[in-house]
Amino acid sequence: MSLKKTRAGLAALTVTGLALGLAACGGGSDDDATAAAGGDDLVTVGFVAVGPEGGWRTANENNIKTAFSKEAGFDLKYSPATDGSQNSQITAFTSFIDEEVDVILLSATEATGWEDVLGKAQEAEIPVLLLDRGIEPDDDSLYATHIGPDNYSISVSAAEWAIKTFPEGANYVVLEGPAGLSVVNERNRGWDDTMADATGFTKLESQDANWSTDEAKKVFETMLKAHNNDIQLVFAQNDEMGLGAAQAVEAAGLTPGTDVKIITIDGTKAALQGLIDGQLSFVAEYNPLFGDLAVDLVNRLLAGETIESNYVVDSVTFDSPEAAEAALPTREY
Ligand code: AHR
Repeated sequence: MSLKKTRAGLAALTVTGLALGLAACGGGSDDDATAAAGGDDLVTVGFVAVGPEGGWRTANENNIKTAFSKEAGFDLKYSPATDGSQNSQITAFTSFIDEEVDVILLSATEATGWEDVLGKAQEAEIPVLLLDRGIEPDDDSLYATHIGPDNYSISVSAAEWAIKTFPEGANYVVLEGPAGLSVVNERNRGWDDTMADATGFTKLESQDANWSTDEAKKVFETMLKAHNNDIQLVFAQNDEMGLGAAQAVEAAGLTPGTDVKIITIDGTKAALQGLIDGQLSFVAEYNPLFGDLAVDLVNRLLAGETIESNYVVDSVTFDSPEAAEAALPTREY
């Protein structure tokens, strides 16, 4: 265990010890212990984030910020990418190493190109946790752990729903997230591997619509025109793009859910409302709420524990308006 981990580990243990001491004397709570530790023993966490991107991203980053609170013993330094650029993330990542933070959290805007800075973090003995987005090639010796839902199996469940819904097959298109992202590659693999065994399905084309409702509407309008509206199914890799495709269907004088069925991934409130209203037909959750798990893993890492290289966050699917109606009142994002 490195000095840094020992220092932070001792800090964590000190706060805990104080808490136990104060509690034993009936002298107070964890807050008192943190205060007694002078607050300057907070574990510093550099969060190399994506930044504003859509409903899922906002929910995920807010959940991380809430979990890594000062009350929980953390000083979280949030650094969103500039215009989604990997260069800005690498600059922030390098700065956090220079600042000698205790831990780095990374949600990568690109899958490749991380070996160098991850190697520098290793040399500095700063553990790195990958949140949501992975790296390619995946070398788990370069990071402490990855936390996120399983994109591959989520896309398999989407494809299995499509095969069940269209027993005679269908013409379909895919609206992808930006090229070069691990989640896009994983979602494509899960879908394509499952559809490979299906009969009667034709993938007419797939295009990047940049996670965006407006871009997805434009892209799908063009696709409908190019294929004389003979498209029965859309696999949209996030909610915003699926809702944009629904707008294109209506603009073409067609009916979403009847003429064109749309699948999305994320499970935001907007998507569940779209399922209730008939714009969408299948919504696969990609659960963004794993901040508490990330905190637990950081605490265990800094206390010198060995943890797994990957933690899958459970996610559910919604295949009917009734399922969405039942879930919507308690949805957290
Ligand atoms: O990496 C997760 C993806 O990024 C989500 O599915 C999408 O909505 C977000 O922008």
